[in-house]
Amino acid sequence: MSITDPAGRETIRLVALIGSLRAASVTRVVFDAAVELLPAGVELGEHALGDLPLYNGDVEAAGDPVAVVALKAAVEESDGLILFTPEYNRSIPAVTKNAIDWLSRVPGDSPLSRTVTGVVAATPGRHEVQGVRRHLADSLSGISGHFFDTTLGIGSLNRRSTDGHLTDSEARALLEGWLSDFASYVDRHR
Ligand SMILES: Cc1cc2nc3c(=O)[nH]c(=O)nc-3n(C[C@H](O)[C@H](O)[C@H](O)COP(=O)(O)O)c2cc1C
Repeated sequence: MSITDPAGRETIRLVALIGSLRAASVTRVVFDAAVELLPAGVELGEHALGDLPLYNGDVEAAGDPVAVVALKAAVEESDGLILFTPEYNRSIPAVTKNAIDWLSRVPGDSPLSRTVTGVVAATPGRHEVQGVRRHLADSLSGISGHFFDTTLGIGSLNRRSTDGHLTDSEARALLEGWLSDFASYVDRHR
């Protein structure tokens, strides 16, 4: 059964993957702020990646492990996917890329090919994390059913957050605007 808001519109259900496993992650700070800044009629829940094994074709051939089945189901059951990710060595961290690799399987029947995907990248550095955003755009534009090519980068997160909370008003406004645009894109393509 679909869920509708008081105006009769169907709720947009988004799933988030966070490409950092550490507790004090700045990427998680951005995810937590996103949950606070969602437009009306949009839900966002995390699917944790801590138990996801490294992609291995032999393991896959024997049958997707439980954590892979759960990840694929979480994406299939949502209207859209947001990858919240750090940047490592000007590119995609293994945690983020490993989730994409599992979700891209198998060609022709991949959960990624049936969803709408967006990217929010975060760094304590004083820049806009262009490397990971560009590499994710290159990858996802080919394999995601619909890729929202306006990726968002939020830098200087140590200065912009306090006690794990995104406090900088400019960063919060940027994130809020991006979430609104992404939700509209998902609504058009789901
Ligand atoms: C292996 C490694 C490579 C990194 N490379 C980059 C980089 O290319 N660009 C960047 O902005 N930060 C880079 N960093 C710093 C990360 O942005 C920083 O550790 C950040 O806190 C990681 O995200 P998290 O807090 O969500 O775990 C790197 C960190 C590590 C451990």
